[in-house]
Amino acid sequence: MEHFRDTVATVKKLTTLGLLALGAVAQNFTNPVLYQDLADVDIMRNGDAFYYSASTMHFSPGAPILWSFDLVDWEYSSHSVPALDFGPQKDYNLSGTSAYNKGIYASFFNYNPKTKTWYWASAPEGPWKKSSTLNFCYYDCGMLIDDDGTIYVEGLRMYTRNGSYYILSVHPMDGNIILKGSSPWGPFQWKWLIHNAGSNLIQGFGPPAQGGLVSLADGRWYHMAFINGFPGGRIPVLAPVDWPSDGWPTVHTVNGAWSKQYPYPLTPHAVKSIVGTDNFASLGPQYEWNHNAGPSAWSITANGLELRTATVTDDFFMARNTLTHRILGPSSTATIKIDYSKMADGDRWVGVARDGSSFKVLMTNNISMNSNGWKTDNKGTQIASASISGGSIWLRTKVNVLPRAQQGTFQYSTDGVNFVNRWRYGVFNYATKAKGGSVTMRSFAIDGTMQNNPA
Ligand SMILES: *[C@@H]1O[C@H](CO)[C@@H](O)[C@H](O)[C@H]1NC(C)=O
Ligand SMILES: *[C@@H]1O[C@H](CO)[C@@H](O)[C@H](O)[C@H]1NC(C)=O
Ligand SMILES: *[C@@H]1O[C@H](CO)[C@@H](O)[C@H](O)[C@H]1NC(C)=O
Repeated sequence: MEHFRDTVATVKKLTTLGLLALGAVAQNFTNPVLYQDLADVDIMRNGDAFYYSASTMHFSPGAPILWSFDLVDWEYSSHSVPALDFGPQKDYNLSGTSAYNKGIYASFFNYNPKTKTWYWASAPEGPWKKSSTLNFCYYDCGMLIDDDGTIYVEGLRMYTRNGSYYILSVHPMDGNIILKGSSPWGPFQWKWLIHNAGSNLIQGFGPPAQGGLVSLADGRWYHMAFINGFPGGRIPVLAPVDWPSDGWPTVHTVNGAWSKQYPYPLTPHAVKSIVGTDNFASLGPQYEWNHNAGPSAWSITANGLELRTATVTDDFFMARNTLTHRILGPSSTATIKIDYSKMADGDRWVGVARDGSSFKVLMTNNISMNSNGWKTDNKGTQIASASISGGSIWLRTKVNVLPRAQQGTFQYSTDGVNFVNRWRYGVFNYATKAKGGSVTMRSFAIDGTMQNNPA
């Protein structure tokens, strides 16, 4: 009898566990998985961890690596490129000329388990180092490490599964296609991976474009692509892939469309949230500089992040040492607290100016750069100012980067009290008279709603 009761209890416990497990798997995630500008996804798995590499153009350090344990909740881990230094021809140091919109595009990475080597580099947590140069340009290329260890670099993302070779390509504004062959050298045939399905994910955004495929340990596959919508950026969306025995994969659609929601691929695994307050115990991998920061332009002190003026200019776009953080969409608030008491005469810091011995908070409107040539075409107009004293100030910006709200966003964001570029918050600091001044950022706080991975 005793034994029998135990058995019933055990069965009950198992049933409860079974239901809990089912419940966990049935929890949905929401697309986009992370509402931040993380363009040109490359994605891979090593063991239980997934890694994501993105483009950064003229921001430095370049090509952030994010990691996740469930493909939905992502945390910044490191950067592949510690500084932008690709020879003398482009000025990533903002010393007289600039390299806006150049730099890092469509990075790829992979891990070779046989040699325990990561490409780009030596370890995913970084730091990474440059070990070789590809002496040719494959547009948006990818890397396949075959089961026998042979490495292929293709013009596009390349995969192998069940004896076949696959190449993933974007078919602009239409969907993504997959090519399949029995050898890495072809010949290949092609079919749609996803076609005309997904432009409803966010109204005003395009359909999912360029991305990557990734396998789970249990053999299921997922497709991560990005959707493009100004000024929110190029943001990642995820969907399961059906891969039937004919060997042709397709994105799993719901009523013919890339769905806004799917069940979590794996048990949800929360990671460090984008939302929250950073007191700058270190400079985390969620930040990047506009071009390379000056080598002695910043440091972490007991009071926070000290930013020293690195350029004498009246042109924000030519000032080194602008710290940036991707905007969290669709709407969020960024609040910074700074100590401005060590600013020098003539210094400009976000919304604070020092002239002589007086400090002002100012609003500068309409600072702009021409995207056809990437030159400054408007240094801005000061539209309001007020005297301040006391040495500390909090500045706050609310942005809404939904495509339909962008007009309002830019009116608000270019007010000079805080600086908002498309896709990024920025904190700048430059001298108009002489270097020597500094400010200390005490904190940087992001407040907003995470669709997944709530804080
Ligand atoms: C940019 O600055 C870095 C470090 O200060 C230096 O090593 C590099 O040579 C500079 N690049 C150019 C093109 O001047
Ligand atoms: C692998 O391919 C063979 C045909 O070559 C097929 O019969 C089998 O179902 C495939 N396996 C998987 C897991 O798709
Ligand atoms: C903003 O700058 C553009 C040119 O860059 C100019 O045409 C426009 O009149 C400016 N608007 C204001 C409000 O200053």
